[in-house]
Amino acid sequence: MKRVYNFSPGPSMLPLPVLEKAQKELLDYQGTGMSVMELSHRSQLFQGIFDCAQQLLIELMDIPQNYKVLFLQGGATTQFSAVPLNLLSKYKKADYAITGSFAEKAAQEAKRYGIVNHAASSEDKNFSYIPDVDKMKISPDADYFHITTNNTIYGTKYSKLPDTGDIPLVADMSSNILSQVYDVSKFGLIYAGAQKNMAPSGLTVVIVREDLIGKAMDITPVMLDYKVQSDKNSMYNTPTTFSIYMAKLVFEWLKELGGITEIEKINIEKANSLYDFIDNSSLYKGTANPKDRSIMNVTFTLPNEDLTAKFVKEASQAGLTNLKGHRSVGGIRVSIYNAMPIEGVKALVDFMKDFELENK
Ligand SMILES: Cc1ncc(COP(=O)(O)O)c(C=O)c1O
Repeated sequence: MKRVYNFSPGPSMLPLPVLEKAQKELLDYQGTGMSVMELSHRSQLFQGIFDCAQQLLIELMDIPQNYKVLFLQGGATTQFSAVPLNLLSKYKKADYAITGSFAEKAAQEAKRYGIVNHAASSEDKNFSYIPDVDKMKISPDADYFHITTNNTIYGTKYSKLPDTGDIPLVADMSSNILSQVYDVSKFGLIYAGAQKNMAPSGLTVVIVREDLIGKAMDITPVMLDYKVQSDKNSMYNTPTTFSIYMAKLVFEWLKELGGITEIEKINIEKANSLYDFIDNSSLYKGTANPKDRSIMNVTFTLPNEDLTAKFVKEASQAGLTNLKGHRSVGGIRVSIYNAMPIEGVKALVDFMKDFELENK
C-alpha cells in the first residue's frame, strides 16, 4: 500500500490512525456483526457514537453551555440559506464581509431573504487580503454580521475578529474549524462543512447560541429550522451516520494529540516552514497579504502557466498531490489541514527546492 501526501482543499486527508481504526471496525462494529454504516440511527449504539462526538466537540472547542451543537447535512452551502432564514428575525438586514467567493455566495443567498450590506470587501485585489476589521461598516440594526474566518481559495484568514458588540457574529469556519483556538462565546453562530478538518463530506456542524434559535421565518424548510433540529437533537430525519462516526474518531485523535492548542502550534509550524521558504525564493511568489496569511491554505504562483503545470505534474509523480490552485487565483494551493503530517510539508519543501534549482 502506498499513501500519498494529499494537499487537496477538500475533501481532504484524514489522519491515518483514524482510517486504520475505521478499517478495523468496518465489518463488525463492537460485536454487532455489522458496520456503523448499517446501524440504525435510532439504535442505542449509534446514539452512543453521536453523543460522544457531540461531547468531544464541546470539549475540544470549549463550547459554552448556552450553545447547541447540531450535526446536519447539506454542506456549508446549505447554511448560506439556513443562516438568513433563521436569523433575519428582527430587522431583516445583515452585514457580510466579502473576503472571497464563498463569502460572496453566502451574501448572494442571504439577499433572497432580506437586505444585505457589504460591510467590507477585498475584491479590489482579488481577495488577497482581509479588510481592516476596525473599519468594517457595522450596521447598528443588522440581525447579524457574517464573516468567513478562512478563505480557502485565496489563502487568507482573519488574524483578528471584528468587534460587532451586541450584533451576533456568524462565521463560516469550514476551512479552519479546529485548527486554532477560538473563543466560541464571541460568536452567535459557527458553521462548517466537515470535509476539511473533521470527517468525510456529508456532515455539517452548526454551533448556535440558544437565544438565536426559534425565530425562523415561516417559509423556512423544516430541515433548515434550527429549532426543529435542536429539539430533535439533529435527528429530525436520518443523519449522516458514517460521517458522524468518522468525526468522533477524528475528535478522539485530536484530543489525544493535546487538543486545539497543540494542533495550532503544529499548524503554525507547518505553514511557517512553507511561507519562510517561499519568501526566500526567487521562483515562487506568495499571493496573500503576509499579515493575513492562512495556516490552512498556502497559495503561491510560479512565473508562468507551463512551469505551474510542470510543477503540479512532477509533484504528483513524487507523491505530493492535488496542488493545483483554484482557477480564480491560478498557481498553486497547498492545503495543510490538521491531518497533514509535518513530514508531508517537509517533503513538499524539499521538492520545491529541487524544482527551483532545476528550473532556474
Ligand atoms: C470557506 C468555505 N465555505 C463554504 C464552502 C462550501 O462548502 P460545502 O461544499 O460544504 O457546501 C467551502 C468549500 O470548500 C469553503 O471552503
